[in-house]
Amino acid sequence: MEPNQRKWWKEGVVYQVYPRSFQDTTGNGVGDIQGIIKRLDYIKSLGIDIIWLSPVYKSPNDDNGYDISDYRAIMEEFGTMSDFDELLEEMHARDLKLVMDLVVNHTSDEHHWFKESRKSRDNPYRDYYHWWPAEKGTPPKRFSYFDVDGNAWKYDELTDSYYLHYFSIKQPDLKWENPKVRQEIYDMMHFWFKKGIDGFRMDVIPFISKDTDYPELPVEYNGNYVPFYANGPRLHEYLHEMNQEVLSKYDIMTVGETPGVSRDQALLFVDEDREELNMFFHFELMSLDRDGDEVFWMRKDRWKLTEFKKIHSDWDATFAEKGWGSMFLSNHDNPRTVSRWGNDSEEHWHHSATMLQTFLLTMKGTPYFYYGDEIGMTNIRFDNIEDYQDINTLNRYELLKEQGVELDAFIANEKEASRDNGRTPMQWDSTENAGFSEEKPWLKVHPNHKEGLNVADQEKDESSVLNYFKKMVQLRKNHLGLVYGDYKLLLKDNEQVYAYTRTLEDEKYLVLLSFSTETAKVEIEEAENTSVELLLSNDGHSAHRGGNGFELKPYQACVYKLN
Ligand code: NOJ
Repeated sequence: MEPNQRKWWKEGVVYQVYPRSFQDTTGNGVGDIQGIIKRLDYIKSLGIDIIWLSPVYKSPNDDNGYDISDYRAIMEEFGTMSDFDELLEEMHARDLKLVMDLVVNHTSDEHHWFKESRKSRDNPYRDYYHWWPAEKGTPPKRFSYFDVDGNAWKYDELTDSYYLHYFSIKQPDLKWENPKVRQEIYDMMHFWFKKGIDGFRMDVIPFISKDTDYPELPVEYNGNYVPFYANGPRLHEYLHEMNQEVLSKYDIMTVGETPGVSRDQALLFVDEDREELNMFFHFELMSLDRDGDEVFWMRKDRWKLTEFKKIHSDWDATFAEKGWGSMFLSNHDNPRTVSRWGNDSEEHWHHSATMLQTFLLTMKGTPYFYYGDEIGMTNIRFDNIEDYQDINTLNRYELLKEQGVELDAFIANEKEASRDNGRTPMQWDSTENAGFSEEKPWLKVHPNHKEGLNVADQEKDESSVLNYFKKMVQLRKNHLGLVYGDYKLLLKDNEQVYAYTRTLEDEKYLVLLSFSTETAKVEIEEAENTSVELLLSNDGHSAHRGGNGFELKPYQACVYKLN
C-alpha cells in the first residue's frame, strides 16, 4: 500500500460516548465530563483510538443535548469548559482522538439567535431561521420527526408567523441560505478546532439546504419527506464551502449523519476530489427492520440475512474506488446491537454479541462501537410508558392516545425500537446503580448488570464478551488487510452464514459468521487446496472440518488466514 493512502481515521476504531449515560461523578444521576475522564484508561484498554462524544454543549435538553442553546459553552449538568479542556488534554495524553457532535441544522429555541429572531420581523437575526408570514396562508406541509402532530411549522403569535422545525418545536431550523449563518457556524467550528479537537460527526447534515420558496412536496418523492429534506438545492455548495473555509485547514476527520442519502449520491459527499466529507452513516441498514416509511415501527418479519448481506455488499461496492465507508450497528438513536442484530437469549447472547463485534472489525470501513457494545449490553424493554424518557417515544404515545389507537401494540414496538433501549446507563459493576451513579440514574439501569453483564465481572473472565472484543480489536490492528483489503462476498444466498474474504496484495482472510440458532454446514471454494489458519474464533474452536468444509455452531464467528 502506498503510505499516502493510509489515514488514521481509516485505521482507527471509534467508540461513541453518550455522556448522559456514561459515568456520573457528582451524584445527580446524570453522567458528566469528569466521569468520562475517570474512564479514559478503560476506553484506552479496549484498543480504541477515537471517541465520538454526543453533544455536551449548553442545552435545555428537550432532545438530550441535540438542541443547543450555546455552541461555545458546556451543559451545566456535564461540567464546565475547564472540565472539557481537561478531557481533551487527558485524551491526547493517551493518544486518543476526540470527535465532537456538530448540530447545525437547528439550534434550541433558547439560543440567543432564535430569541432575537422571534422578537420582530425586522430583527437583525430574523433571517437566521425559516419564517413563513401568516398572511400568506398556511405554509405547505412539512413533516416533523418529534412534533406531537407531525407538523414542522409552528405558529408563533408574537410576529404572526410560522417557523420551521424538522425536529421538536424547541429545535428551529437554521437558515443556511443566509451567509451570516454560515459564517457564524464556520467561526464556531474554528473555535473547537483551535482547542484541538480531532473532528466532527455532523448531525442530519444533508438537511441544511432548503428551497426557501417552500414548495409542496414534489410528487417524485412519493409522500416521503426524508429524501426530499436530504436533497436541498445548495447542499453540496455548502459542504464544499465548509470544507474550504474550515475542514481543509486541520488534520481532522468528518462523518456525516445522512438520512435520505442513497448509494448513487454517496460519492457526492465523500469522493476525495470533491472536498466535502470523509465518511457518512447511511440509513439503509437502520431502516431494514422498519416498516416502509414508518421509520419508528418495526417490520413484523424483521429482516433476513440475505438482505443484511446485500446492503453491506452494495455499500462496499459504492466505495470500492473512491470514498470510504463507516460500519456501525447501533448508536444513541437505536436499540442495542445484540438485541437487534443478534440474539440476547441466555443461550445465544455471548456468541451473537461477539460474532457481531467480529463483523464490524473485519469489514472495510471505519468501525464505530456504541458504549456498552463491548460488553454486549441489551435492550431494557420497558413495559410502562412512565419509564420512557425519550421525546420521540413520549410524543408518539401522546399522538396515538389522542387518535384513540390501541397502545399495547405501540409499547410492544417500543420495547424493541425505542431509543431509550440504547440509552440506559453504562454497566460498570454489579452494585445497585451499576457503578454509574451513587444516586438514582436519570434512566433506569438494566437489571442484568447484576448477572455478569458489567465491566468488572467481564474483566475477570478470560472468555467474556469484553475480553473477546479487545482481542478482536488487536487482530484488526495487526492485520492491515482487515482494514484496507478488498471485500468479496461468498455464499450470497445462504440465510445462515455471512461469509467473505478480505484481500490485500498477498494477504487473504476468510471470515465466517453464523447468524443462526442452528448448526450450519457450508463449503467454501476459496479454502480448497490452501492452508487455513484460524486467527480467532468467539467459540475458541475452529469451524474448519478439512478441505472446503466448515461446520459452524450457532452464532459462531471465525477469522482465518488463507495461505
Ligand atoms: C439525529 C440525532 O442523532 C438525534 O439523536 C437527534 O434527535 C436528531 N438528529 C435531531 O438533532
